[in-house]
Amino acid sequence: MGRHQRLAELADVGTEDLVVADLGCGTGRTVRALLASSPGPRLVHAVDATSDLDDDLLHDARVVSRVADLDAPLPFADASMDRIVSMNVAENLADPAEFLRQCHRVLRVGGLAVIGHSDFDTALFTSPDDELTRLLVDRFVAEVPHWQNRADGFMGRKLLSLGVDSPLTLVDVHSWADPHRRFDEGSLAWKIAMGMLAAVRDDPQLTARAAGWVESVRSLADAGRFLFSITDVVIVLRRDS
Ligand SMILES: C[S@@+](CC[C@H](N)C(=O)[O-])C[C@H]1O[C@@H](n2cnc3c(N)ncnc32)[C@H](O)[C@@H]1O
Repeated sequence: MGRHQRLAELADVGTEDLVVADLGCGTGRTVRALLASSPGPRLVHAVDATSDLDDDLLHDARVVSRVADLDAPLPFADASMDRIVSMNVAENLADPAEFLRQCHRVLRVGGLAVIGHSDFDTALFTSPDDELTRLLVDRFVAEVPHWQNRADGFMGRKLLSLGVDSPLTLVDVHSWADPHRRFDEGSLAWKIAMGMLAAVRDDPQLTARAAGWVESVRSLADAGRFLFSITDVVIVLRRDS
């Protein structure tokens, strides 16, 4: 079971006629997993700053696409949501604690928020050069990618305290690190590796070493000797009052 299926399972959408919001939905991978649950939610509000939702989801009558800034008050009435899910969004937000206060406001009493984040500092790559791998991961987590306003490579491990300090009740915390053995373009490992390359682009010497590192990882993957994993942390919160 993949990350998005796990999130959908933790959101526990299989039993009622639920209204769900996916905050920072991206292309809609968690939305898709939510809809695949049986019987699935009645409505999923897919919210993001940009409109990247996959076409088939845009045409699904159960999906409402909303473009909104999650740094602003959530575009929902008080107590209007049964479930909230949000994956890999918190690091981008100016005030993640305020975001959880907003989640509390829009959830009905008894509603659940499932908030997940990869802890990018835990990126594990097999490579022939462990020291260079460590250096590249360090540079990656220290850098804010040019396509983001903010980043926090340690957000996964910070989620628990954010949840404890929020007005919601912490129900559970989960973590997992799925094994990935592919390094194809577009794979999760490849995307993180590209982030590592971007993080060293101002250092010509390191850029050249990083490019060689990517090729060595590609060779390991071609030989079936490559493993990548990253720890995801997920908190499940409930509105009790
Ligand atoms: C790493 S992606 C995760 C997408 C999706 N949740 C997933 O796991 O596949 C982060 C998403 O958060 C969105 N995002 C970041 N900051 C935002 C903000 N202030 N308001 C709305 N969306 C935001 C980005 O546009 C992006 O789609």
